[in-house]
Amino acid sequence: MSDQPEPPRFYVTTPIYYVNDVPHIGHAYTTVIADALARWHRLLGHDTWFLTGTDEHGLKVQRAAEERGIEPLAHADATSARFREAWALLDITYDDFIRTTEPRHRAAVQTLLERIRANGHIYEATYAGLYCVACEAYYNEADLVDGEQCPIHLRPVEHLEEDNWFFRLSAFEQPLLDWYEAHPDAVQPAGKRNEALGLIRQGLEDISISRRALTWGIPVPWDPDQVFYVWYDALTNYITAIGYGEDEERFGRWWPAVHHLIGKDILRFHCVYWPAMLLAAGIEPPHRIHVHGYLLVGGEKMSKTRLNQIFPADLVEDFGVDGFRYHFLRDQPVGPDGDFSYEGMVARYNADLANNLGNLLSRVATVVAKKCGGIGPAPRPDSPLAAVAADALAETAAAWDAVQPSRALDATWRLIREANAHLEAHEPWKMDPGPAVEAVLGDALEVLRIVAILASPALTRAAPEVWTRIGLPGSPTEQRLPDAAAWGGYPGGLPVEKGAPLFPRRAADG
Ligand code: MSP
Repeated sequence: MSDQPEPPRFYVTTPIYYVNDVPHIGHAYTTVIADALARWHRLLGHDTWFLTGTDEHGLKVQRAAEERGIEPLAHADATSARFREAWALLDITYDDFIRTTEPRHRAAVQTLLERIRANGHIYEATYAGLYCVACEAYYNEADLVDGEQCPIHLRPVEHLEEDNWFFRLSAFEQPLLDWYEAHPDAVQPAGKRNEALGLIRQGLEDISISRRALTWGIPVPWDPDQVFYVWYDALTNYITAIGYGEDEERFGRWWPAVHHLIGKDILRFHCVYWPAMLLAAGIEPPHRIHVHGYLLVGGEKMSKTRLNQIFPADLVEDFGVDGFRYHFLRDQPVGPDGDFSYEGMVARYNADLANNLGNLLSRVATVVAKKCGGIGPAPRPDSPLAAVAADALAETAAAWDAVQPSRALDATWRLIREANAHLEAHEPWKMDPGPAVEAVLGDALEVLRIVAILASPALTRAAPEVWTRIGLPGSPTEQRLPDAAAWGGYPGGLPVEKGAPLFPRRAADG
C-alpha cells in the first residue's frame, strides 16, 4: 500500500451510437472531443476512464436490418465494427467499448429497472401515441411540424397503441428541479441548463418504458413478452460499463463523477429522463452533462435521410489524423452549431499546422543544423518566452477543464506564435554561431517541448514526432502536468533532426 493520496478521477462518456447508420463526422466530433479530454486528464495524472460504444436495440435498428434482409444482431455486429474501425483510424483511446447487446448490459438494465419498480415507480397502462422511429420517441401533437412530422427528422410520425409499462416520470418533476437547484453547474453550457429546466417546468408526463410490438430489445424481467424502450436500455450503458449491479465497489469509484458529452438532439433524454431514472433507483444523477451543437453541412444537420454525410476517412485522407482532430477541436467550439466547410478546414490546417507549428519546427531544426552542429542548445532560465509559456499552460488547462477545446488550443497556439515572432525578431539564421544563436534556439526548442505536451491531446501523431525530432526520449504522453510544462525542461545537448515537413501545405481545392 502506498501512502500517496489517490489521484482525482475522470470518467468521460460519448453517446452510444445507433448502428442503423455508419460513423460520420458528427459522431466523430463528439468522440474526438471525449478522446482529447481523456488524454488531457491522463496528462494531469488523473485516474481516467473513457467509455464509448454502440446502441443496438430498438425499432430503428430492427428496420435497418430488415431492409438489408439480415438478422438484427448480424447487422449490429457489422456496423458496430465500423465504429471501432473509425475510432482506430482517429486514434481514439477508449478504455471500454460497450455494445447494448452484451450480456453484461442486459443484466444491468434488468437490475436497474427492477430496482425502480421495487421503489414503486413503474406501473402498467395502455398507451396510444405518435411515434417517430428515427428519434425512437413519442411526440405530442402540438410539437409536430405541419401536424404530422417529427420536428427533428421532418418525417411523418406513426400511430402506436399498446399495453405498456410506464415510468412515473411525473413524480420526479420537483425532485429534478430540486436537484438542479442544488447542482447549478450540472448541465453545460448554461443556456442548455435553462433548456433542460424549461422542459421540466413545462410539466412531465409519465412515460412508456416497454414495447410489446418489438422483439429486438432487452426483455422486461417481470413480463418477458415485452422489451424495454430503447432509450431506457441505452442510457443505462453509462453505469453498466462501470460495474453497476455487479461490482458495487467499482461502480462507486466512477459514479457519479461522470462527464457525459452529448449533442443537443439528445438533451431531453440525458437531462430529464436519465437523472429521473437514477433518482427513482436511489442513484445520484450525473455530475456533468456537456451539450454541444450540431455540425451542419450546407446549413443542415447531417443525416442518412438527407444524404449529406461526410465520413472521417475522406477527410483523414486529405488532412491526416492530426489535421482531422485539430480542425474539429479548434474550429467547432463546444456549445453552438457550426457549419462544416472544407475551405475552412484547409485554411485552418495551413495557418496553424503547416505555418505556425510546422514552420517553427523546421526553422529551428534548420538553424540548429547550420549553426549548432545539429545539437540543440538549452533554453535560458530568464527567457522572455518563459512567462508566455506559463500563461499558455494556465489558459490551456483552464480551457480543457471547462471542456472548451477550441480555447485550449488557441491558448497553446499563442505560445507557438510568440516563439515564431521571437525568432523573426532575432533572426538567428543571420547570426554567427555562438551564445546569442544558442540562446534564441534553446528558447524555441523549449517552446517546442512544451507545445508537444500541451498539444498532444489533439495531435496524436505530430506531438510525439516533434518530441523525438528535438531529441527527447520517450513520448509527450508520458509526461505529467503541470510540472512537465515548467520552463527549463529541455536539457540541451540533444541531437535535433530536420526531417520532412510535419504538415505539408494543402491547396484550397484539396
Ligand atoms: N443512440 C442514441 C444515443 C444514446 S446515448 C445513451 C443516438 N445515437 S446517434 O448515433 O443518433 O447520435 C448520437 C450523437 O452523435 C449525437 O448526440 C451527437 O453527439 C453525435 N452527432 C450525430 N450527428 C451529429 C451532427 N450532425 N453534429 C454533431 N453531432 C452529431 O442518438
